[in-house]
Amino acid sequence: MRRKLIAGNWKMNLSAIEAREMIAGLRAQVDPMASRLAKDRDILIAPATVVIPAVAQALAGSSFALGAQNMHWEDNGAFTGEVSAPMLKAFGVTHVIIGHSERRHVFFETDEFVNKKVKAALKHRMVPIMCVGETLQEREASKTIEIVMRQMDNGLSEVPAEAAATVVIAYEPVWAIGTGKTATPEQAQLVHGAIREFLDDLWGKSAAAETRILYGGSVTPDNIDSLLAKPDIDGALVGGASLKPDSCAKIFRSGA
Ligand code: PGA
Repeated sequence: MRRKLIAGNWKMNLSAIEAREMIAGLRAQVDPMASRLAKDRDILIAPATVVIPAVAQALAGSSFALGAQNMHWEDNGAFTGEVSAPMLKAFGVTHVIIGHSERRHVFFETDEFVNKKVKAALKHRMVPIMCVGETLQEREASKTIEIVMRQMDNGLSEVPAEAAATVVIAYEPVWAIGTGKTATPEQAQLVHGAIREFLDDLWGKSAAAETRILYGGSVTPDNIDSLLAKPDIDGALVGGASLKPDSCAKIFRSGA
């Protein structure tokens, strides 16, 4: 049975002061249920990089995991503006979002970069959350599966079956991110099912059955339950709704 993973991606929001306040409000609602939640799910917050130390402090003694939104694949070197896995790990970061559509579309990250980052995360025993997803134009041209499979194939190049239980995939249709237009649970399941089949072919059925596949794109407290009810939707990557203690707590507690 796969453990759920529900992750808040704060993107470039919340300063250290705001983050401390947010975490205090969130913990007040989540901590009393922590042992119940821990039975079947991991919960995670991914703040802006510079806010990670403040959030690490605010999360001390909680059941939350701490994630980063991006990282470089090298451990150090002449890469102005970047941070590395060892730097993040020093603050207790255990997960890293890789190849988010905003990184791909605004910062022109390629599948090749994504693949290097996934392998770097695994090398450092971090959990890579590799994002895939099609644009509206690609969906309308019936290219969803083709695009997602290309991202999967390139992103997981040279990643062995032994990593199946660690790697997390996030299916995030670009047209659903920050737009209020969620994919229906059926639309999402169709792509999640295709991703699972791809993983079956890549790693074999039993390894592929261990990989968690999250859905992301306008997840709210109102639609999380119906999404998680689908067989291949193992959690969520949540942007906007993770920025307020109430909605974030409701999503983290979904179904518990
Ligand atoms: P959203 O963002 O929930 O605001 O649509 C999701 C994401 O980009 O991870």
